[in-house]
Amino acid sequence: MKLISGNSNRALSEHISSYLGVPLTDCNLKRFSDNEIFVEIMENVRGEDVFFIQSTSYPCNDNLMELLIAIDALKRGSARRITAVIPYFGYSRQDRKTGGRTPISAKLVANLITAAGADRVLTLELHAGQIQGFFDIPVDNLTAAPVFVSNIKDKFPDQELCIVSPDVGGVFRARQFAKRLGADLAIIDKRREKAGISEVMNVIGEVDGKVCILVDDIVDSGGTLCNAALALESQGAKEVHAYAVHGVLSGSAVKRITSSTLKTLVITDSILATQEVKDAHNIEHVAISSLIGEAALRISEERSISELFK
Ligand code: R5P
Repeated sequence: MKLISGNSNRALSEHISSYLGVPLTDCNLKRFSDNEIFVEIMENVRGEDVFFIQSTSYPCNDNLMELLIAIDALKRGSARRITAVIPYFGYSRQDRKTGGRTPISAKLVANLITAAGADRVLTLELHAGQIQGFFDIPVDNLTAAPVFVSNIKDKFPDQELCIVSPDVGGVFRARQFAKRLGADLAIIDKRREKAGISEVMNVIGEVDGKVCILVDDIVDSGGTLCNAALALESQGAKEVHAYAVHGVLSGSAVKRITSSTLKTLVITDSILATQEVKDAHNIEHVAISSLIGEAALRISEERSISELFK
């Protein structure tokens, strides 16, 4: 197998490379003066099983375009199989029409990746599982649940825990956590009046006196989790922690989180952390590289990935 890193999160690619003991294949990813992207794979890939690692995080359009151009370069270089490893799949929240004359951008991105020449996709915690169906090539959608659950078990060994979904869409994910941890489940009934601004309405479930753990796929502005923490505390929660797979953390999210009542926010390294994120006193990081590396290895060896989660 050959591993190649895009520019979005080289640190994660290096961790995956060291997990697998496979060096990163040298690749020249550069910009022309008008900002066009140029990709040149510096080693022969003819007949190879190639994994190109690129989160389509901020700047999402540049990172997406780089991914597409790299896939094209690999296709034209006669790679036997190209797996687009997309730890964070940008545009995944645009997975349905939200009104008349609006796009389904997640489907468009899926079409672009397929048209560029990817043979399969390896990704992590898609915003909606159904996005797998936007592709007509195989998609392996990993979950960070085992990594988060073991972190929760280590951090809260003897506490009465309540796993909380910050919105109705996340109930399935939260229920899986609650089941694995033998914890209670609560749901926040969240209404979003305007894109980017969240409003918490009601807490469904008993949280009084419990340590509440919010679980979500994405933390972007931080509004969902910070408002949820306030709502849980108003219902008597002892303390509130949050686990979100993808730390998008745009705009003033870090300031919002550091000045919130959240005791901790745990994120993975699917998106490269900025210095501000690294310095935040209540944001913690867990590594996802060994999970992605192991899944890539299993794809390469044609072995089961679902067994990883049993
Ligand atoms: C929404 O459905 C997602 O699961 C997240 O809850 C949302 O993207 C978080 O966004 P923000 O941090 O901006 O509230």
